[in-house]
Amino acid sequence: MKDIDELINNVKKYNNCLVQRRFESRKNTVAYVLKDNQPRLLKWFPPGLKNNMDKEYETLAEGSKGLDIPFVYEKDNINNVLILNYFIGENLCDVINKGRRPFHEKQRIVVLLADWFARFHHYFKTDKDFRIRGDAILRNFILSNGIIGVDFEESRIAKPVEDITTMCASILSSDPMFTFEKFQLCKIFIVTYKGSVRWELENFNQELSYALLERIQWRPEDEETLRRYADKIRYQGFSKTIS
Ligand SMILES: Nc1ncnc2c1ncn2[C@@H]1O[C@H](COP(=O)(O)OP(=O)(O)O)[C@@H](O)[C@H]1O
Ligand SMILES: [Mg+2]
Repeated sequence: MKDIDELINNVKKYNNCLVQRRFESRKNTVAYVLKDNQPRLLKWFPPGLKNNMDKEYETLAEGSKGLDIPFVYEKDNINNVLILNYFIGENLCDVINKGRRPFHEKQRIVVLLADWFARFHHYFKTDKDFRIRGDAILRNFILSNGIIGVDFEESRIAKPVEDITTMCASILSSDPMFTFEKFQLCKIFIVTYKGSVRWELENFNQELSYALLERIQWRPEDEETLRRYADKIRYQGFSKTIS
């Protein structure tokens, strides 16, 4: 992974950026900077991932008119950089897993999260198909004034159930894993989402089971636990699976 200083020091138009914070990223170089004293999020894609930048741009450009997602100040096709507005806030993964927020506060947050998904799916829905956000993990949301979704490189035409089950898998399998509280939060998330949309979540249990197995690539040390819960959910159903 390249450091953001490489871009700022070597490309003249970024010389005026002051790095405030570097974000964790598996593929890209992401930083909060002051650019001409204005707060901005700078996302620098590696050369091989220009397609991802184009996809993320399309979703942001169309969606930011009506959704709680960043808007794009600039798309730099030469250096593969997106400059977005920066949201002050806390990553949802830390909010749910690290903070000492009481349960009722976390409940309120997952209700907002379910509303965010319902609005996203409504917004991009056509007569023929749905667009999902993709990579629906807690880390791709910020708790700012409300819930903000970020990172749309994997947005694509697919079924909403994929987003909803990926999100549930992220909630259940991030540390602390599979606690009673996590199951309760998922239940509230699913019920709220279902109450706001007119479509079904087809094959929910199979999809959730699959989403849990997909987590193995990020948590190989927890393979056994993930497989156990994936099997339970597939054969007994989510509602009968208690931690
Ligand atoms: N517009 C933004 N405002 C504030 N923080 C952001 C913004 N965009 C991304 N982040 C933070 O940076 C992290 C990495 O950005 P992200 O777009 O998810 O990159 P990657 O695709 O490499 O995961 C996110 O998890 C989030 O914490
Ligand atoms: Mg991300």
